[in-house]
Amino acid sequence: MRFVILSENRKNGICSNEDGLSIYFDIDGNKFLFDSGSSDLFIRNAKLLNINLDDIDTIVLSHGHWDHGNGLKYLNGKKIILHPDVFVDRYSVSRNMQFAGINQKLEEMLERFEVIQTKSPYMFFKDVYYLGQIPRTIDFEGNGNISTVLDSKTEAKDYTLDDSGVVIKTKSGIVVVSGCAHSGICNTIENPKKVAKEDTIIAVIGGFHLRKIDDVLMKTIGYFEENNVQNIFMGHCSTDEVIKEFEKTNIKVQKLYSGAEFEIDNIPAKE
Ligand SMILES: [Fe+2]
Ligand SMILES: [Fe+2]
Repeated sequence: MRFVILSENRKNGICSNEDGLSIYFDIDGNKFLFDSGSSDLFIRNAKLLNINLDDIDTIVLSHGHWDHGNGLKYLNGKKIILHPDVFVDRYSVSRNMQFAGINQKLEEMLERFEVIQTKSPYMFFKDVYYLGQIPRTIDFEGNGNISTVLDSKTEAKDYTLDDSGVVIKTKSGIVVVSGCAHSGICNTIENPKKVAKEDTIIAVIGGFHLRKIDDVLMKTIGYFEENNVQNIFMGHCSTDEVIKEFEKTNIKVQKLYSGAEFEIDNIPAKE
């Protein structure tokens, strides 16, 4: 199983970066795309990496924020799985109430894609599931990470209930793929354990939405240790200081960047 980061906030090598996330993955020759970043950068980087996006079978959109979904404008003819709320209007508090939703409406997408809208877990390939709406059960994560509002005037909170992910069940355990983890990264792991009926977590890959060293971070690290998470591939909305805290644990940590490639079968744990 191979993961390639097509667009990311960080760069290290030939590929450019942007505010956004797009992850390509290949399971036994079957190709998938998780998010599309905020522009056509994922397509340009794929070309540099000799990845043919025509081969993609299914796209999963993690949630309806611009930095994960605006690149979809440059694709068509695929099956796409998403939560119905990805289309809501939403605005960014930290960016002067700029529009923060995706730049396409359902009607436009229906013209170009086979759209599967669901709030429930959905198996789109053998042992590979879209997680649907993630229940928020971990007490210290509360209602999750709120970074947008639903109305720029009333500032009605946007709990980003559409925030989801993917779980891949393998013989040795599960691999969890997260977009921004607005549901909370622990909830984003807790739910796939139930969906895939498997407790061993080989790897978690994606954005963790952890930005500072605080009580929630320490409890999150405690949760990862209790659950024996073996490998994490973290980036996007995770800061360097948070990544350093994870590096102090027994968990093997790798940072995401545009162009990074990871093989996740039989990956060794930290020595
Ligand atoms: Fe994001
Ligand atoms: Fe987001």
